Amino acid sequence: MSNRIIVRSPVKDVRNFTNIPEMRKGVIKEAPETPLNANNAVNSIANFLHPPTQFLKVKQVAEISKDTRAYILEPDTAHGTAKLAYFRPGQSISVILEIGSAIVTRAFTICSSPTRSLDDEYVIIVKKKPDGFASDFILNTWRKGTQISASAPFGEFYYQALRDSKKIIGISDNYGISPFLSMAEAIADGSLNLDLTLIFAARKQNEAIMSERLNELAEKSAHFKVVYVFSDEHVFKCERGFVTKSLIEKYATSSKFSIFVSGTQTLYNRVVPQIAELKLENKYIRFAANGKIENPASLPDFPKDAIDKTFLCKVVHNGKNIATVPCKATETLLTSLERDGVKVPSHCSSGECGFCRSKVIKGNVFIPDGVDSRRLADSSYGVIHPCCSYPMSDLTIVIS
Ligand code: FES
Repeated sequence: MSNRIIVRSPVKDVRNFTNIPEMRKGVIKEAPETPLNANNAVNSIANFLHPPTQFLKVKQVAEISKDTRAYILEPDTAHGTAKLAYFRPGQSISVILEIGSAIVTRAFTICSSPTRSLDDEYVIIVKKKPDGFASDFILNTWRKGTQISASAPFGEFYYQALRDSKKIIGISDNYGISPFLSMAEAIADGSLNLDLTLIFAARKQNEAIMSERLNELAEKSAHFKVVYVFSDEHVFKCERGFVTKSLIEKYATSSKFSIFVSGTQTLYNRVVPQIAELKLENKYIRFAANGKIENPASLPDFPKDAIDKTFLCKVVHNGKNIATVPCKATETLLTSLERDGVKVPSHCSSGECGFCRSKVIKGNVFIPDGVDSRRLADSSYGVIHPCCSYPMSDLTIVIS
């Protein structure tokens, strides 16, 4: 049909456009009545890239430090996953964990190169978090052969040629190293074409995880460089102190670069004012989703009179009230619902992906500045992301 549409001028094109419905009817009339082949190439590629669920198994566990392990995951063919979905360096998978009566979903960035996924391996790093409910569970229970239910790769924290500069300054701490490791692996094996300088902040040299591998990759590729910044000690050929504007400029070596930041809230709080002083266009500054806010009550706009309160949240699904859950004002709704065993769809836990989208029928929530990525229409119709919403009264919400 498209070869009969010729672009001529605004007026003639509008006339052409009005012909399209009739042309479409003709094409539909001429089409065979046999159903489309569900196994055509486009569907196969879509299923390969975006399977609804990936059934995985732990192939190998490697000790990285006393509280950090790397897990090599492979397809669990017995449960129906024959191949791992391809991904972009910087993307994550979310895994579903049943911990006692709680059902929680946690996102982990794949730290291996996409090329390795073609050989059916993903690598993820799990580091114990202070009060880490899910990280403790994984570190204590995942062994070779553990079966895992995971999502397809998702997330926006990857290099996009149309928007990002080809010269990237990465800033990371121990908790945010995985996307940069994946990018460095991909640069070294030739599947990612950009220049990455990683500024890796840690307190001491022996606390910087995966530094041996990062150093090997920097040796292997002229397009990847790693700079260590230690706040608590002097180390030969490393920086001492914190990540500052002048440190970033020292390693940027050109006026045009993108900054990618991945790590804890503490790192973000420290580097945001420094990055602001660089006066880069917004599109050149990227932050990885870093999960829920560590101490929401300390936010300047958090309603102080709610800090010690607990509210009741009625949860409606498919028209039925499926649970009534006590929710602390200082915990996200998602955390409270997961702890109570309510299965809420979620991926990023950061307000970014929209997967947990729910509707407030009654009650109020607090949504901190900077995590509200809802569309304007969503916010005016009471749609919230429970992963970054805090209850401020008794509530009734509808979940998907
Ligand atoms: S889980 Fe991604 S927005 Fe809530």
